[in-house]
Amino acid sequence: MIYVEGYQNTIEKVYRTGNEHVFAFWDALTPDRQKHLLQELSHINFEELENLYALTKKQVIPMGFEPAPFTGLPQTPEERKDFDNARAIGIETIKNGKVAAFVVAGGQGSRLGFDGPKGMLPIGPVSNKTLFQIHAEKIKAYEKKFNVEIPWCIMTSEANHDATVEYFEKNKFFNLNKDNVFIFTQNMIPSLDENGKLILETPYSIFRNPDGHGGSLTALYQSGTLSKLMDMGIEILSYFQVDNPLVRIIDPVFIGFHVKRNAEVSSKALKKAYPEEKIGVFVKFSNGRIGVVEYSDLPPEKQNEKDEHGNLRYLAGSIAIHLFNTHFIENITKGNVTLPFHVAKKSIPKYSPEGKIHITGYKFEKFVFDALPLTEHNFILETKREEEFAPVKNKTGVDSVETAQELMINLYTQWLIQKNIPIPKVVEKIEISPLCAVEPDDVPATLLLPQQKEVYIS
Ligand code: UD1
Repeated sequence: MIYVEGYQNTIEKVYRTGNEHVFAFWDALTPDRQKHLLQELSHINFEELENLYALTKKQVIPMGFEPAPFTGLPQTPEERKDFDNARAIGIETIKNGKVAAFVVAGGQGSRLGFDGPKGMLPIGPVSNKTLFQIHAEKIKAYEKKFNVEIPWCIMTSEANHDATVEYFEKNKFFNLNKDNVFIFTQNMIPSLDENGKLILETPYSIFRNPDGHGGSLTALYQSGTLSKLMDMGIEILSYFQVDNPLVRIIDPVFIGFHVKRNAEVSSKALKKAYPEEKIGVFVKFSNGRIGVVEYSDLPPEKQNEKDEHGNLRYLAGSIAIHLFNTHFIENITKGNVTLPFHVAKKSIPKYSPEGKIHITGYKFEKFVFDALPLTEHNFILETKREEEFAPVKNKTGVDSVETAQELMINLYTQWLIQKNIPIPKVVEKIEISPLCAVEPDDVPATLLLPQQKEVYIS
């Protein structure tokens, strides 16, 4: 056993848990790198990892559930009135400075094969603006519309934090007040090989992955951002994923319903397009609590189950848009209520003296929607897919840059049609800058489109 003063406890744990292979290159390391490795190891919770590895051996049998009830799009005059009333309440809440935006942008985007923070992916179909820029400009537009400053929390992870901060600084925070943009990192957790052992990423570091977007609530708290927001009077966080350029970041109707229903967490749902669509579904567990069952955990018979009208029974899909009360987050994080980890078998890079190799191992991640069953009151609102969901997940095909751009162009075209703005035949691509409009009503009625293939309305 190696001996280093001050680290003996850690070293003993490494040996006791059968992880001594992490010292395989010890003698060849510089003292700095030896220290680096020991420091990383000293932060690892070996007991927790043993429990997590045990999870990989168990078949997780989810609690019984049925479809969750949700509020659908308004059909009747009364329902429309209810929506208008929610909108008015939402506007008042926003104007009173009670709402902040919160994007999770710590994921590794491995399916996309984009080198860099996913938020820096160019997505504007005409402008080529990045996801981050589009989100930033939306927030700027809402600030103007509601005459209020809207703080923005951005969760990154170790791998993309510096690049994200640098990007925002280089772009002067896209004219947002820099003091109201809070960029902080989430925690990391070691991945394990198939035998439940740590994996060396380099001769002096352990492979770890971000702890999932479920780590966002803890990260908000641990970074001190939550208390800053609460000191500023923020009561509601509007949560979204970095990969959806169509998200309505600040939605008065959604916020109004959340307030009206006294919800601690609210979520947006859309009707699943087909049974295998890769989105989680809202359910009501047998203990009466609401939650989301991830697509990969939904048994095929439930995935395909139809109701008496021939519609999918598990129809309400989660698009990862939620509202969280800051008090609710404070209660669960302060009370040390941790969300459960889920296991995913994945390909993991491993150091070998011959170069990097890939092995199969386990990654552990928390999912933010596991906070839903912790609520006493929650609310689920249906939204229209074409108005609010254009996820960018893959390089090509389904949910790719191409499909997202097509959805953006379609939506902006609809906005112009709704405002009776003539679209010349030659026009193939339309993009509307958030600085011009975040909803169709904002589009100036006098707009005149140029006779060209690609039109950018700024
Ligand atoms: C996710 C949801 C799914 C939902 C779909 C909508 C899960 C498990 N599933 O699927 O129910 O219908 O989005 O698009 O989340 N992220 C972090 N840190 C992490 C991991 C992820 O910040 O450690 C962020 C990513 O940057 C991204 C978002 O979370 O913004 C979603 O992650 P992703 O891995 O793409 O989730 P999906 O499996 O696509």
